Amino acid sequence: MDREVWIGASWKMNNTLAEAHAFAGALTATTIDRRIQPFVVPPFTVLREVKAELAATRVKVAAQNMHWDEAGAWTGEISAPMLVDCGVDMVEIGHSERRLHFGETDETVERKVAAALRHGLTPLVCVGETAEEKAAGRADRVLARQVSAALGLVDDPASILFAYEPVWAIGEGAEAASPGYADERHGVVKAVGADMLGAAPRVLYSGSVGPANCQALLARPNIDGLMVGRAAWAPEGYIDILNRAAAAL
Ligand code: PGA
Repeated sequence: MDREVWIGASWKMNNTLAEAHAFAGALTATTIDRRIQPFVVPPFTVLREVKAELAATRVKVAAQNMHWDEAGAWTGEISAPMLVDCGVDMVEIGHSERRLHFGETDETVERKVAAALRHGLTPLVCVGETAEEKAAGRADRVLARQVSAALGLVDDPASILFAYEPVWAIGEGAEAASPGYADERHGVVKAVGADMLGAAPRVLYSGSVGPANCQALLARPNIDGLMVGRAAWAPEGYIDILNRAAAAL
């Protein structure tokens, strides 16, 4: 049976409006294999435009963060109703860059997941151990803690996605997790999820995904898709990975 994989482009703090138009235009002109659920994660400033440009395609649009409250005195923050207002489908929650630099915790992740679900947004929750935690043999314990916190207020395993993003594998100069190591960690995320929800949630891999490793990662049974950072900041990079993934399915 064909399996469906989710493959996303995580733009982070990249792409002005003109660049976002070019990206969306390139995607609109591309035929994407039906077994792939594509998604892009643009910055807030272009969400509405990107969603409008991709409206006739199957590409879902995710925000990179949101606040747990509906509205109020939270200067600089963006609420779930505001994302819904932009037509957004999904929202990334708890990325390690936000946990590290912006005070995101397991508790804020839990509250944001609940808020996303209340407003019909699919949360994409990022989990993963640091290099120190890995070296200390604590990776699976960290994952179990992060996953159970994220699922505290969730009851439908199909309503949420996880991205396993080992912190040591993210960004310039880092090396991706091996497919075997990632597959084992995905197994842990799925087991904790299945224990709490009755069935395992989907788990995407992220961290130095590129053209050279995307197929080997997708070949592993517990890897339900990929989120690609810097290799997919330009549309050609993302489209190349979509094509390679399709060839491997
Ligand atoms: P990277 O980013 O692919 O540039 O390592 C991954 C991520 O942060 O999701």
